[in-house]
Amino acid sequence: MTRIAEGVFWVGAIDWTLRDFHGYSTPRGTTYNSYLVLDEKKALIDAVRSTHLPELLARVKEIVDPGEIDYLVSLHVEPDHSGSLAQLLALCPKAQLVTVERHGEQGLERYFHQKLPLMAVKEGSTLSLGKRSLSFIPIPLVHWPDNMMAFLSPDAFLFSTDCYGQHVATSGRYDDQMDMGLLMSEAAKYYANIIFPYPTQAARALEKTRALQPKLICPSHGLLWRGHRPEILEAYGRWTRGETRPRAVVVYDTMWHSTEAMALALVEGIAREGVEVGLRSLGSYDPSDIVAELLEARALAVGCPILNNNLLPRMAAFLTYIKGLRPRGKIGAAFGSFGWGGATAVKAIKEDLTLAGLEVMEDELAVRFSPTAEELQACRQLGQKLAQKIKG
Ligand code: FEO
Repeated sequence: MTRIAEGVFWVGAIDWTLRDFHGYSTPRGTTYNSYLVLDEKKALIDAVRSTHLPELLARVKEIVDPGEIDYLVSLHVEPDHSGSLAQLLALCPKAQLVTVERHGEQGLERYFHQKLPLMAVKEGSTLSLGKRSLSFIPIPLVHWPDNMMAFLSPDAFLFSTDCYGQHVATSGRYDDQMDMGLLMSEAAKYYANIIFPYPTQAARALEKTRALQPKLICPSHGLLWRGHRPEILEAYGRWTRGETRPRAVVVYDTMWHSTEAMALALVEGIAREGVEVGLRSLGSYDPSDIVAELLEARALAVGCPILNNNLLPRMAAFLTYIKGLRPRGKIGAAFGSFGWGGATAVKAIKEDLTLAGLEVMEDELAVRFSPTAEELQACRQLGQKLAQKIKG
């Protein structure tokens, strides 16, 4: 347990061994943050995934008998925060389950298939706990339709759910207890893999956050922001506005190294123009890390050969992921090799990048079997052209 203030505690769970969060690689593990507020009424804000309920309960019991809890507040129905709620309710017989109207109510009922003691709240609803109160700020679609923030007064603590989260498991609970570079890169990875599709909604949540002037930001995963609040809010400003820097990411998969040779030549062309570029093979890099790099990059070039008249499976999966995340407004480029079935991979990549919201260059490079010296030179030239577009 961590005492955040007199009567306010972090009582969540630390998942040191988690390495895969629905396909998002989490090499540093994560935490499921849960907060206990003691006043005339007692509220537990968010729970943990069901596997970690014993850890949550042990922390709560250090402070209070769970049977005395009056409110279980669900800021987000996703099971890593609500999965243990039904078991918790059995231990908290007088507790009401506070959730956002409609999407929260429906989501919890659909997960638990039982009658729940729901108390629905909406924008502007306030729950008095005694000397303290919680007010609720729905932030739909940052990340699910029921996401909402809660603001504890008079402390000015903001429980921000997915906003400002990071997947890191540490013994420290605050931003200033971890290397700032690592923390910001995990926050960027979280934004890119969880919030990328919802920049408008996240911008609204950011505006509401700024208006509240929180003294402490308590997300549902990772470290709490106290000393570095300006930095994380500034970063969310950049990310929600889609700000980029002159950088390209070249992603490829390869069968017999032809597409790889093209990718290397493309990178050489980009670098010749003085533009920063990263080369990422799907055989060596995790898509969730590549997406994090893409967050502030201005361009994405994608290359793949054909296997059985289709994309290589890893590339098909990567493009499916990108289509869902919709990194709008970036420049896209496609290239690849083929054997005897035609240059369908390049066409498929262009279509998928367009569907993902990128502005795809007309130029395309498709090479039969293995690139000649002239074809590699054409790849360098495409790289240079892409770099010039990046520089604007
Ligand atoms: Fe762990 Fe959408 O949350």
